[in-house]
Amino acid sequence: MADPIKTNHSDPFERLKVVKKNFLTKTTVGLRLQVPPHLQEAFYYEAGQYLRVKIGDREEDYSITTAPYEDYIGLAAKITSADSFPAKLAEVNEGDLLTVSHPQGRFTVPQRPAEKRTILGFAGGIGITPIISHLKNILHTEPGTRFFLFYGVRNTAEIIFKDELTALQQRYGERFQVFYFYSREQNPDPLFSGRIDEKKVKLIINQILHLDEEDEESTIWDATDKVLICGPGAMIKSIANACYDNGIRKTDIHFELFESFNDDIYELETPLPYLSDIRVEIVHNRRELSAHLPNNDRKLLQQLLDQGIELPYSCKSGICGSCRCRLVKGEVFMTDNDFLTASELKQDLILPCVSIPLSEKLQLNFDTL
Ligand code: FES
Repeated sequence: MADPIKTNHSDPFERLKVVKKNFLTKTTVGLRLQVPPHLQEAFYYEAGQYLRVKIGDREEDYSITTAPYEDYIGLAAKITSADSFPAKLAEVNEGDLLTVSHPQGRFTVPQRPAEKRTILGFAGGIGITPIISHLKNILHTEPGTRFFLFYGVRNTAEIIFKDELTALQQRYGERFQVFYFYSREQNPDPLFSGRIDEKKVKLIINQILHLDEEDEESTIWDATDKVLICGPGAMIKSIANACYDNGIRKTDIHFELFESFNDDIYELETPLPYLSDIRVEIVHNRRELSAHLPNNDRKLLQQLLDQGIELPYSCKSGICGSCRCRLVKGEVFMTDNDFLTASELKQDLILPCVSIPLSEKLQLNFDTL
């Protein structure tokens, strides 16, 4: 997995002992880290968060694969080449100390232990890592909630956490079902062959999430409360749009991008005045930067990222708040906002990932929130 999530990394690093290392597939290494008593509070985390790992002068982010109730922190990394960061991680031995940040990230969902919810998880390849954390956490803390996992891999040998998923199915019975989809292996049922994309989601809705035994007048899809997605950007985009087009609210679709993705997740639905030659001045991490945007036909954050400007983000859809900044000058239109409060909006805070410039001059400050 290449540097998956761009964030502000101001948290301190600590050294945690590796108590177990094993290969989860031929090319996926798993590590278990022990948190000593004096760091328990600093390493309190929510399902879906990640740690930044440092080896030498290189750093990358890795989703936590365990749930908060487990007594160690798990990480997993896919080795893509001999000089990749995960290959370095695979050289770490049991007993070594690994340098990691405190838990970070906003791919989290509030817990509802008293409710009976229906949650869907979609994972592609190594994107299973934060999803399995959510899965274990939800099954453990919400005794009335059911979870359906749709997991896309190339072939059976590439299923990460296969034994753990099977054990969870046995333990939680009807409350947890997992379906595997193979992009490079034929399955007798064509439903399970090929990538999980928009078309496949429609088939899943019609063929898997149809009859609801708990409510004969409804379908499982109708009862869905949350959708959690993690994997490549194109996969997230197609699944998120398929879910949205089929009636799930954007606020209930949560995702984590594991790679830079030069595209908006949701297309613009409101026609806006066209502007060209937009000048943007930015203050970020005490540095002053400027950018020139050709026009306003795409969201502000993506246009700035395309120009090589490093800015914090995670969901790119107005849900997580990672990209929040202050609009010091100019005007934007936010297509979505499920994060900022009315009082934050009054203080000119904006989410550039869902903002369309409406002025030819904009000033953004990421440091004064
Ligand atoms: S990146 Fe999540 S709100 Fe902007």
